[in-house]
Amino acid sequence: MRKALYIDDDAGLRTLVKRGFGRDGIDVVDVADGESGLKALETQSFDVVALDLYMPGLSGLETLERINQMPNHPPVVVVTGAQDSRMAVTALKAGAFDYVIKDVQGEFIYLLKAALQAAVDAMRTHRAKEAAEAEVREARDRFEALAAERAILMREVNHRVGNSLQLIASLLTLQSNSARDPEVSKALASATGRVLAVAQVHRRLYTSDDVQSVSVDQYLTALVEDLRRSSESNALAQLTLKTDPVNVDPDRAVAVGVIVNELVMNALKYAYPAGKGAIRVAIRDSGNNRAVLSVEDDGVGIAPPSEPPDRKSTGLGQRIVKAMGEKLNAHIETDPSHRGTRVVVSFDMRKEAPRPAA
Ligand SMILES: Nc1ncnc2c1ncn2[C@@H]1O[C@H](COP(=O)(O)OP(=O)(O)OP(=O)(O)O)[C@@H](O)[C@H]1O
Ligand SMILES: [Mg+2]
Repeated sequence: MRKALYIDDDAGLRTLVKRGFGRDGIDVVDVADGESGLKALETQSFDVVALDLYMPGLSGLETLERINQMPNHPPVVVVTGAQDSRMAVTALKAGAFDYVIKDVQGEFIYLLKAALQAAVDAMRTHRAKEAAEAEVREARDRFEALAAERAILMREVNHRVGNSLQLIASLLTLQSNSARDPEVSKALASATGRVLAVAQVHRRLYTSDDVQSVSVDQYLTALVEDLRRSSESNALAQLTLKTDPVNVDPDRAVAVGVIVNELVMNALKYAYPAGKGAIRVAIRDSGNNRAVLSVEDDGVGIAPPSEPPDRKSTGLGQRIVKAMGEKLNAHIETDPSHRGTRVVVSFDMRKEAPRPAA
């Protein structure tokens, strides 16, 4: 405490306080009434205010009220005669920090000094706590605003990526339609399908609230719809989908989608040489965070490797399925007991925790 304001109409007491405090190096500005005190508070800064409750003119309580309305005002300790303790309590309720009873013997100066020092210390702690709380609030608000902005950006990015992939797919379709060689045309059409499978993941990402995970059931529903629509002369009319609710991160969703695309296209191309038949896609939650994807048909089945390979086959589909399976850390097998072809892919729905470094 370096500088105090003392408001009291008793000139003798003012001199006493000024002198008593001056000995401790505390500068006391003393004024005789409330109005002068308020003026002093407006023009100078004080660590603390001592305020007499009984004064002619503006009363102590009125002065206290006006001080309380000043922003960042110093703490106020009221000073009162021995018979006025009830007034002192009123002053405490009105926001005074403490009260000190005047006495004639001069104990008063020491009591006042202690009370003023305590008020200064308490105010400092209070202001520091308020500042710290405000900082925490501000940091939290800033963080929330950033998180919201980030989510909007992610959606925006997914939207753009989805649109760009859609555009690439459209360009490939155009190219496929204008190719003179039917083999080239077919190859371009299958490239279109692969691009669309990836595009669909991004479309799911910006239409959902969550940008971290993709609902595989909704994604596959949309993907199967895409496949049906793009197949010639209703060739995929008998394509069905059965799904449990399964959520995975976007990378995994892309891998699942690309696998489904390859396996469905294979069934479409090879299972029913004589016409069309059923193709069933299913994904189920097998517990323990594992999911099982299956694609099956009731067709001719995959020829054993001993037979001469189909000359038209590039084998690219199988390579893609294998690569995507590795991305999923999946177990892939064909079910030998199934009549036709049934490929089963089981994988972890969660990203594996990174292995601890050895
Ligand atoms: N559902 C199925 N029914 C019968 N045969 C199949 C089936 N799926 C795959 N095959 C056989 O396996 C071979 C390899 O398939 P793969 O997807 O690797 O190549 P592809 O489909 O011929 O070429 P791409 O995928 O590049 O178009 C096919 O040529 C076909 O003979
Ligand atoms: Mg294939």
